[in-house]
Amino acid sequence: MSTKQRLEGKVAIVTGGASGIGAESVKLFAQNGASVVIADVQDELGHQLAASLASDQVSYHHCDVRDEKQVDQTIAFAVGKYGRLDVMFSNAGTGGSFSGIMELDLNAFDNTIAVNVRGVAATIKHAARAMVAANIRGSIICTASVAASMGGCGPHGYTASKHALVGLVRSACSELGAHGIRVNCVSPFAVATPHMCRYFNKGVDEVEAIGMSMANMKGIALKANHIAEAALFLASDESVYISGHNLVVDGGFSVVYRSPLPSD
Ligand SMILES: NC(=O)c1ccc[n+]([C@@H]2O[C@H](COP(=O)([O-])OP(=O)(O)OC[C@H]3O[C@@H](n4cnc5c(N)ncnc54)[C@H](O)[C@@H]3O)[C@@H](O)[C@H]2O)c1
Repeated sequence: MSTKQRLEGKVAIVTGGASGIGAESVKLFAQNGASVVIADVQDELGHQLAASLASDQVSYHHCDVRDEKQVDQTIAFAVGKYGRLDVMFSNAGTGGSFSGIMELDLNAFDNTIAVNVRGVAATIKHAARAMVAANIRGSIICTASVAASMGGCGPHGYTASKHALVGLVRSACSELGAHGIRVNCVSPFAVATPHMCRYFNKGVDEVEAIGMSMANMKGIALKANHIAEAALFLASDESVYISGHNLVVDGGFSVVYRSPLPSD
């Protein structure tokens, strides 16, 4: 059976593409025919991933999304190397650290907002500029979280940042529809990526067991490739009329109250 080429001829940037959800998305996008730029601050990992995939189709470019100039340069790199930009997967994010609201470290809070909100805003700004200039009906996808619609799923700064991100996506969507550019979120439940393993200070199996014990959907561990599949859908022309949407990939976790009472 031949691999489906759902992104044939498209050029994508994946921020946070060196690890976890981003790395799985880089692989899936490339398998589906896209040329992909991995944008990250983990240079060694990013270069390794690019080298492990088709070298003419996947490249690494250093990009700290907190630095607008680096974001602009990364987009210029993608357009210079591959000729256009169709998909911006703005996925880089940081969890920050857990603390009570009364002990909140505001410097750490600022950094979380700088990566998860300001950094994403920079990617939307410069991706939209490149798409509009070339008259490309592009797709911008941002990684939010179940913590974008619920409290208690992460640190305060993280929850605030992901809520803000959904607002930013809706706001950008309201302007960019006029140019045929779609802007959406994908919102994962717990995936045992390096980010989550660091957060829990546990290995992949233990983090997956924690996720499965909390999950609404039983009998399956949520993996990075499940999120990558959702991002692929939003990147492809299959979602051509979907914009301003928050595609939650949580097996129902955020819409189900686990009542102790019998349900009938
Ligand atoms: N893993 C989960 O359970 C989960 C759940 C909900 C949302 N998310 C979100 O998914 C996204 C990806 O996280 P992941 O779980 O794959 O983690 P990860 O740590 O495996 O990957 C995150 C990547 O982002 C990069 N990054 C961090 N700061 C950056 C910056 N300033 N500039 C550029 N790159 C930067 C890191 O180097 C890393 O490669 C994040 O936005 C995260 O908030 C993850």
